Amino acid sequence: MCGIIGYTGPEDVLPLLVQGLSTLEYRGYDSAGVAVIDHAGELQIVKRAGRLDRLRGALEGRPIHGTTGLGHTRWATHGEPNDPNAHPHTDAVGHLALIHNGIFENFAELKAELEAAGHVFRSETDTEVIAHLIGAIRDEQGGDLASAVRSAMKRIEGAFAIAVLDRHDPHTLVASRREAPLVLGHAEGASLLASDVAGLIAHTRDISAMLDDQIAVLTPGGITITDLEGYPAEAHHYTVDWDISAAEKQGYDHFMLKEIHEQPRAVHETLLGRVNGEGRIAVDELRGGAAVEGDLAHVDKIYIVACGTSMHAGMVAKYTIEHWARLPVEVEIASEFRYRDPILTPHTLVVAISQSGETADTIAAATHARNQQAKVVAITNVVGSTLAREADVVLYTRAGPEIAVASTKAFTTQIVALDVLALYLAQLRRSLFPDECGDHLARMEMLPALIEQVLEQEPAIAELARTFAGAEYVMFIGRHVGLPIALEGALKLKEIAYVHAEGFAAGEMKHGPIALIDQGGPVVALATRGHVRGKVVSNIQEVKARGAVVLVVATEGDTEIKEHADHVMYVPDAHELLYPILTVVPLQLLAYHIATTLGRDVDMPRNLAKTVTVE
Ligand code: AGP
Repeated sequence: MCGIIGYTGPEDVLPLLVQGLSTLEYRGYDSAGVAVIDHAGELQIVKRAGRLDRLRGALEGRPIHGTTGLGHTRWATHGEPNDPNAHPHTDAVGHLALIHNGIFENFAELKAELEAAGHVFRSETDTEVIAHLIGAIRDEQGGDLASAVRSAMKRIEGAFAIAVLDRHDPHTLVASRREAPLVLGHAEGASLLASDVAGLIAHTRDISAMLDDQIAVLTPGGITITDLEGYPAEAHHYTVDWDISAAEKQGYDHFMLKEIHEQPRAVHETLLGRVNGEGRIAVDELRGGAAVEGDLAHVDKIYIVACGTSMHAGMVAKYTIEHWARLPVEVEIASEFRYRDPILTPHTLVVAISQSGETADTIAAATHARNQQAKVVAITNVVGSTLAREADVVLYTRAGPEIAVASTKAFTTQIVALDVLALYLAQLRRSLFPDECGDHLARMEMLPALIEQVLEQEPAIAELARTFAGAEYVMFIGRHVGLPIALEGALKLKEIAYVHAEGFAAGEMKHGPIALIDQGGPVVALATRGHVRGKVVSNIQEVKARGAVVLVVATEGDTEIKEHADHVMYVPDAHELLYPILTVVPLQLLAYHIATTLGRDVDMPRNLAKTVTVE
């Protein structure tokens, strides 16, 4: 949720921290702050509620020069987004500064203990409590900062990542994590830390993802990692294969628009090399090799767990997996999954989908499944993410960094990866002939060109968006694979345009939601070619008869649909199960252009954060 950056090395650290925060601001934007140990050895902290620009303003004319520092952008959990609650926080005597992402579950108990010992707190945050705790431990037991952090880690409960600096040790940062992401960057003469790779990529591609309960000590000369007992430990080391331009807007007004337009390339990348030398469909990581493949061949039930847009991708996959691999699939909201005691056996496969690979609810669901002996497949965009490391099988979506809070290219590539998984399972279970799998893959390889054709209609969609921008409430309806796209179209509109929107199964309208229709109310209907088109057309007539203005997403060449629609957005002809990868694109563009018409902050919509690392 929060963005964390830290640097120690030869460079003037403040501009570097602010630049890093601008890359990480998408993770949370309730407040921003920096802590720098200046050349005089003083700890300088500047922090402001609101967007990073407010911090920039506060830093203007304040020359703070030093080479070691921390920066933070916040998504508030404990305490409202104001200046005192902004990070960094200091210990009781103001010698050390701490930033954090996540939640300290036992902070109230620790706070009471510290208050009893005379500590006075200046904020309402759980973060300040841990800063005081580390400071108190350090004063009491002596030793270095790393020892104090190690002792504090044994007392803290929750899911979090922390980074600390101490004016007594001006060229050192200490970091740790538990169930929240923290990556380390190895650069020439410098060491860095961040909540995700986007914050480091301007400096290095040489990355280590910290594992739970490790302590990292960063100095300009390098990084040492130990476990909670002080023994040497190893993080997950990897090299990032994208560069800084991937995390920049490259001339687009917003990251969201750039990412919508990146979909042809992203889908192409997701599909690349999916057939191995023996002509078989391949996944990226198969832990346990042939034995795991054997287990997967005997799976008798699949649960798909995910949140938000990723869950909508899972809903699409239910249709493909059931149809191609002939396995029963249930799709679950990840935050509900483990609390309802699902029936999991060694023959159950849990497919966990997460762009970031760090969504707390999805990771918790995957961990629960593994603890019950189920096999776990991760579909994620982030190499080395917690979810990727938790899973038996990993399929990477290879979409490149997704910065906009509203997920777009992650969604289409998740569906493609899930289609690959469906074919992989079909191959293991022999529910499809090899040439049928090959035919489906060949059709999928056409998708990038087909998405390009949809994108060419952007000017017309932008025009339509201006027509619909005044609507108070938009309904999205669809059947079969059109249903998850209706839900996704509505979610996009809600989250970036703040327009009340809901998606419904078209056939359910007459059981209640149709009561919402009144004169001129917009309804977006998914009516591409396929076995449910006629049924959707009937549902369109029902809403039109009650005064709705209907915007239909239909298949190119379907001129008859115009008789039932007020407006039509066309997508090229495709296999029925592959339509979602095309039909979602005009809905992404529609939401984007409605949001910009309304003057919304598209990339950083209110109250949201890109990666939700708290339950
Ligand atoms: C998408 O537009 C949303 N911002 C959100 O629903 C997102 O898909 C959800 O939080 C899951 O994120 P993940 O894919 O990183 O797990």
